[in-house]
Amino acid sequence: MQEQTCVPFGAKRLRQETLLTQSKKEPAQVLAFVNQKGGTGKTTTAQNLAVCFGLHHNKRVLCVDLDPQGNLGHGLVYEQINTPKTADRLLVVPKVNINEYIIPVRPTIDLIHNKFQKEQREAVDRLPLYPNLLRKQLGSALTQYDYVIVDTPAGLCRSTQIGIDAADQVVLVVSCGMYGLKGMVAVIDWMAGIYNRLARPMPSIKVVLNNYDERRRFDREFRREILHIFGDDLFQTHIRTSTRIIEAAAQGMSVVESSPLCSAAEDFKWLSREILGLPPGDEPPVESYRFAEEEVVFERALLTGQPPNKFRTPWA
Ligand SMILES: Nc1ncnc2c1ncn2[C@@H]1O[C@H](COP(=O)(O)OP(=O)(O)O)[C@@H](O)[C@H]1O
Ligand SMILES: [Mg+2]
Repeated sequence: MQEQTCVPFGAKRLRQETLLTQSKKEPAQVLAFVNQKGGTGKTTTAQNLAVCFGLHHNKRVLCVDLDPQGNLGHGLVYEQINTPKTADRLLVVPKVNINEYIIPVRPTIDLIHNKFQKEQREAVDRLPLYPNLLRKQLGSALTQYDYVIVDTPAGLCRSTQIGIDAADQVVLVVSCGMYGLKGMVAVIDWMAGIYNRLARPMPSIKVVLNNYDERRRFDREFRREILHIFGDDLFQTHIRTSTRIIEAAAQGMSVVESSPLCSAAEDFKWLSREILGLPPGDEPPVESYRFAEEEVVFERALLTGQPPNKFRTPWA
């Protein structure tokens, strides 16, 4: 049966022309975005990094949404996404044609969407924990991309376990507004337990601070505590709060596309460079940064007497 597909925003390619037609030898790096709390910015970070990797660094990116809320797709595609081939289904169907699950959303970015379907959700929750499930189901797709970005739901559920199991790198997204260091340590203990059961070493875990405001004493202290616990595993780039993020998501876009000069877009671009191991550089010219961030820059200059680019700690 021919299934109905959406017409993704900004995608020039047809379904038949997803990135699977290109070949590549090395398997993709799998990044899973995790936190047991909702609303910390997992989806926002996953979405914006996917766009940075794909559009700024010309990487081939597959986004996999393990959250049945489907927000990752909603933040990339304005129109309704009508596909029965969801990530939940991918996990529970024994034999899959991965091509049918992949939706192109940008020239170098594809998506495996998710949405809540009661039966499939219950089937995912009942899945036994066995290793490499997601990787096995992705099959040949893994070698067709440079990065697979896995968004996970809140809560320490089976989907999150599956995402973590597939990951080369787990990115713990922590929001400064939500104090929960004990919760974070609990997630890491929980992850260690999973890897113990799967009899394999833990992947690398790195922490990114979201909603960070250097002017808030609370945030600075919070950052110090995280740094104390995680040391070098805390990304040096923090994501600042920006209302542009919410506006962008409502348009099915990332903030790096809709407001490329705003503070948060700037941060996501820096974070993508940090993950790619690129030195700082190629940022928008300081003039345009100042123009876009006029108010913030002004406030910051008043507070610190320093120009805005001194706010950042370069990672290299
Ligand atoms: N740095 C930020 N500044 C402003 N709003 C943000 C920021 N990060 C996330 N948000 C908003 O917070 C809400 C929750 O973010 P989301 O990425 O969906 O969290 P999660 O996936 O962890 O549940 C969304 O409305 C999102 O647009
Ligand atoms: Mg989310």
